[in-house]
Amino acid sequence: METTLTINQISRRSGVASSALRYYEERGLIVSERAGSGHRRFPRHVLRRLAFITFAQKLGMKLDEIKVELDKLPTGHVPTGDDWTALSEKWTARVDEQIAQLQRLRDGLSDCIGCGCLSLRSCKMLNAGDALGQRGPGPRGWVEDLANDAGTSA
Ligand code: FES
Repeated sequence: METTLTINQISRRSGVASSALRYYEERGLIVSERAGSGHRRFPRHVLRRLAFITFAQKLGMKLDEIKVELDKLPTGHVPTGDDWTALSEKWTARVDEQIAQLQRLRDGLSDCIGCGCLSLRSCKMLNAGDALGQRGPGPRGWVEDLANDAGTSA
């Protein structure tokens, strides 16, 4: 098995466009070596970093945030399972919150979601006068667990 891959091979295997790979490298999220020809060669373990980047973005993490997390990985060796476990504490909490948000989205699709539109009959009861807008932007019924919050009537 090759230990280094070209940018096209990395792109094909990861599903990440070559332009994005170059951008991630510019931002310091991944590192390549230069072959004698001057072309980029990526160590195969970069694929795991790319998987982390892709899914962290799906969880709403910004690249700066992802970089902070990836910078916690050791640089002297290929990250081990223990290294990734140490990194995953914040990740686990984020995944749990994302799951909870998706469940609220699934369960509340036909009801008032506290987005400020006041367009459904249930908005009058659950978000009268857009009171939930005081709590922050976005659909508060999806963003937070209003059912377990004694501070609101929703
Ligand atoms: S659905 Fe938008 S405020 Fe109720």
